[in-house]
Amino acid sequence: MSTSRRMLLAVIHLLLCSFQTSTGHFPRDCASSKNLMEKECCPLWRGDGSPCGRLSGRGFCQDIVLSNAPPGPQFPFTGVDDRESWPSVFYNRTCQCFGNFMGFNCGNCKFGFGGPNCTERRLLVRRNIFDLSVPEKDKFLAYLTLAKHTTSPDYVIPTGTYGQMNNGSTPMFRDINIYDLFVWMHYYVSRDTLLGGSEVWKDIDFAHEAPGFLPWHRLFLLLWEQEIQNLTGDENFTIPYWDWRDAESCDICTDEYMGGRNPANPNLLSPASIFSSWQIICSRLEEYNSLQTLCDGTPEGPLLRNPGNHDKARTPRLPSSADVEFCLSLNEYESGSMDKSANFSFRNTLEGNPFLQF
Ligand SMILES: *[C@@H]1O[C@H](CO)[C@@H](O)[C@H](O)[C@H]1NC(C)=O
Ligand SMILES: *[C@@H]1O[C@H](CO)[C@@H](O)[C@H](O)[C@H]1NC(C)=O
Ligand SMILES: *[C@@H]1O[C@H](CO)[C@@H](O)[C@H](O)[C@H]1NC(C)=O
Ligand SMILES: *[C@@H]1O[C@H](CO)[C@@H](O)[C@H](O)[C@H]1NC(C)=O
Ligand SMILES: *[C@@H]1O[C@H](CO)[C@@H](O)[C@H](O)[C@H]1NC(C)=O
Ligand SMILES: *[C@@H]1O[C@H](CO)[C@@H](O)[C@H](O)[C@H]1NC(C)=O
Repeated sequence: MSTSRRMLLAVIHLLLCSFQTSTGHFPRDCASSKNLMEKECCPLWRGDGSPCGRLSGRGFCQDIVLSNAPPGPQFPFTGVDDRESWPSVFYNRTCQCFGNFMGFNCGNCKFGFGGPNCTERRLLVRRNIFDLSVPEKDKFLAYLTLAKHTTSPDYVIPTGTYGQMNNGSTPMFRDINIYDLFVWMHYYVSRDTLLGGSEVWKDIDFAHEAPGFLPWHRLFLLLWEQEIQNLTGDENFTIPYWDWRDAESCDICTDEYMGGRNPANPNLLSPASIFSSWQIICSRLEEYNSLQTLCDGTPEGPLLRNPGNHDKARTPRLPSSADVEFCLSLNEYESGSMDKSANFSFRNTLEGNPFLQF
């Protein structure tokens, strides 16, 4: 991940802590060997006890439809990575939801809708974190803490590949808290391909340095907001943003916000920050590769940050207002090679390659 993209997404990174690198969403109700052997993930909607809420007209169980477009030239394999033609390695039947219904069992509303039948329009506003009142800001931090301490009722993570699960006959899944679920999803979408033995393929990423960057992350953050809304019952919750334009340093890196520096160790957070007690997950990519295993959500130590101590030759400063204006002036969403070398691509420039660097 490029340093400048890391800056552009800094607030997200600070929040999700251990970002290293497909929404690997595994509903708890679909993690049994029966589901995996039948390749069906159509859980009951608890409102009426029918798969996909079919009896209430929410949706129905259907064969998935896959694109038959070939993979890009960057990935010269087929049938070696569980994320190819997602989610077909695990499931070939899932819930197809009608109207404003959404989710693995059609139990959720589409973004922007609410109410018992998902018919009420919801207009939510994302606010500048510095415009939140102190109680609003503290509520936000309390929500994050709650998410970090609450096991996801709906999702589990796989701790092995489909092959390691003997093609589904011996499931390997475990619980994860709601916050770490999103850290894990971000890891899973961008991890390397395990090729067996000690071989890995690193030139792969389903969420970065390609056209999918913006839609993937938009869905990711919307799902995260929705999980926090459901967890807290605060239907109006939105993730605040950090406007880093022209900032000379990380001005949210204080104990009131995302955590100040520990006076005894610049890499650690100040003991006065609520985040100083947090543990990261999914940070040891080389270790997972050498073991040919997946991140299993085990705590791997405290948050390490040291804001400002990055490679200044690569990223001299936070983006300026002029950098943002330049990016917004680009008319083409994507261009040329559609990767990290794409020139005058809005997506690539937003990701931090290559123009924001000069
Ligand atoms: C889905 O997978 C099951 C189990 O492998 C298989 O029997 C079925 O034919 C598949 N369905 C489709 C539409 O591919
Ligand atoms: C909301 O959270 C509850 C637990 O508080 C859980 O049982 C339910 O499945 C969640 N619903 C959705 C739609 O995410
Ligand atoms: C929701 O839809 C159900 C089934 O169509 C209906 O019986 C119920 O009255 C609706 N509830 C509301 C609040 O509109
Ligand atoms: C899993 O499926 C693959 C491909 O169909 C097959 O080559 C392999 O032998 C299977 N492994 C097990 C443990 O069933
Ligand atoms: C969410 O916002 C709407 C519109 O301002 C308001 O009517 C509603 O009461 C709010 N809900 C909660 C749970 O605060
Ligand atoms: C982008 O522009 C540079 C400089 O003109 C050029 O060297 C490079 O080949 C271009 N990249 C692509 C993918 O076209």
